[in-house]
Amino acid sequence: MQHVKVEPKLISTLEDVTPTVVTAMAATPDARLRTLMESATRHLHAFIIETLPTEAEFEKALHWIAALGHHTNETNNEVVLAADVLGASTLIDLINNDGMQGETMSALLGPFYRGKAPACACGDCIARSDTPGPKLFFQGKVTGVDGAPIAGAKLDVWQASPVGLYENQDPDQEDFNLRGVFHTDADGAFHFVSVKPAGYPVPTDGPVGELLHAQRRRPMRPAHIHFIVSAPGYKTLITQIFSDTPEALADDVVFGAKQQIVGDFVEHREPHPDHPDTPSPFYSCEYQFRLTEGESTYPVPPISGTKS
Ligand code: BEZ
Ligand code: FE
Repeated sequence: MQHVKVEPKLISTLEDVTPTVVTAMAATPDARLRTLMESATRHLHAFIIETLPTEAEFEKALHWIAALGHHTNETNNEVVLAADVLGASTLIDLINNDGMQGETMSALLGPFYRGKAPACACGDCIARSDTPGPKLFFQGKVTGVDGAPIAGAKLDVWQASPVGLYENQDPDQEDFNLRGVFHTDADGAFHFVSVKPAGYPVPTDGPVGELLHAQRRRPMRPAHIHFIVSAPGYKTLITQIFSDTPEALADDVVFGAKQQIVGDFVEHREPHPDHPDTPSPFYSCEYQFRLTEGESTYPVPPISGTKS
């Protein structure tokens, strides 16, 4: 019998590219990786065919992606920042944390969680160096969705200084200023002292800043405090409690603000009953974090915070 040799077909038109690349990936043993890469490839190719970039535009895009890496180090994570300003982090957050069990709504982690914050006792102040802004007395409870208190829950707390910078961005702040780890007592309660958070700009000195400028977008985040609330047997909650005007909340450059996690920050002009030396006005906020049962995991910090 005579065998006819079939020559493999080479790409000759635009339409050949996507099926050829997808076929090349078809033997990927990890089924999830295969699905993700096939879909990513199809969408990437469709985007390119829709927008028909010039070679100069393609070169610029690749340079921008490389610059994300060059601007990522121990104190700044430009890759996370890019995912955040493109709305990708909020999409991932909403897909994986829908709040349907009655748990507190989550919000994106952001690039400024550095882990290893000092352990604090209830009532400690996390302002470790001279920090401007009115004092804030934050208290609350950690409970299940049924309202039952969770004793020994861990709260990892961090916020920017009202000067507009996290401590790792600012040589004038003490190491771990405005960061601390607290645990709830037998009633699921916790409290700590800080300063009222203020809005701040995300870093604009890298490729993300360049993009925001080109898009005429304001780089602002509304005032907030970050929390990671965790306890064995409960799904870890990564969230932010907001304190800002409706306009600022709607103008969040990373689309993280949600109505359910806006705190009630109450202004006080009377002397504080337990801390009469507190300058007036000061603020208080009370918040109940509700956790749903699930796996207690912990995020990998996007930065370590210290330059090596
Ligand atoms: C933050 O809240 O720390 C943050 C989140 C996203 C981008 C930049 C900062
Ligand atoms: Fe923040």
